[in-house]
Amino acid sequence: MLKGRNLLEPMDFSLSELEEIFDLADRIIEEPAKYVHACDGKLLATLFYEPSTRTRFSFEAAMLRLGGQIIGFSEPNSSSVAKGESIADTIKTVACYADLAVMRHPKEGAPKVAAHSTDMPVINAGDGGHQHPTQTLTDLLTIRRTLGDFDNITVGCCGDLKFGRTVHSLIKALSRYKNVKFVLISPEELRIPEYVRKEILIKNGIEFEEVRSMQEALPKLDVLYMTRVQKERFFNEEDYIRLKDTYILDKPKMKLAKEKMIVLHPLPRVNEIAVEVDEDPRAMYFVQAKNGMFVRMALIMSLLGIEG
Ligand code: NCD
Repeated sequence: MLKGRNLLEPMDFSLSELEEIFDLADRIIEEPAKYVHACDGKLLATLFYEPSTRTRFSFEAAMLRLGGQIIGFSEPNSSSVAKGESIADTIKTVACYADLAVMRHPKEGAPKVAAHSTDMPVINAGDGGHQHPTQTLTDLLTIRRTLGDFDNITVGCCGDLKFGRTVHSLIKALSRYKNVKFVLISPEELRIPEYVRKEILIKNGIEFEEVRSMQEALPKLDVLYMTRVQKERFFNEEDYIRLKDTYILDKPKMKLAKEKMIVLHPLPRVNEIAVEVDEDPRAMYFVQAKNGMFVRMALIMSLLGIEG
């Protein structure tokens, strides 16, 4: 049972609990009208200490489409945070009003601190360069709905693997399936953090390679997970400018890929996927964004213990 639980990182749910969420998301996609009153009378708080479009909107749209209501802020300077309130006090106060909360914060571990200060379910919507588990639910649902299964796939992660929290969460989540291989495509400066390499990949005996060339990697992949270079986490602008356009996926490069490969991107995109790729049937990033709302509907219902 997921009722009352938190989602702070991808491993918080077992594989069968994830399946339950994906099955419910599939049912909601099939028959959304059936769920329009599922969360009547319930309130979701969205506490966003960092900018967001998709994640906040998709959570808010998810709750509204379930008949629930929302409160929250997207600009911490307009809340008591600006007066110096601690995360623990903010969440304890929010718990007086809401049934569950979603938090995005620039500091790693902030949603965990919040979760430890309340009995209300807390969902991590991205903490610094660390984890982003609900983006992972979105990514996994999209892979499941297009490729059917997670076992025996080769996943290429390309771009900013150092600061890209969505990649860290995705690798962690996929490491539990059978025979998943990774091709990690990045410039030297943006390679995945040591803790992901050692504690997730090597420790679990997962096959992976770290390469520079996207062209070389493309023919092997079943999933290409593109990412934006995370400008806001760089210490100096020069490095960002030098690295931001290292990889640009365009039509000629798509010719090197398998016919059934899918292209995912958590969005927002900057330059890393040329707009011309959008019309390729393998480009799944906008479908993925839509799946994000449905999987969050399933997550909200599950944490509130609402059957569907
Ligand atoms: C991602 C994030 O916030 O980490 N965006 C999102 O939630 N869809 C990716 C990014 O900002 O590059």
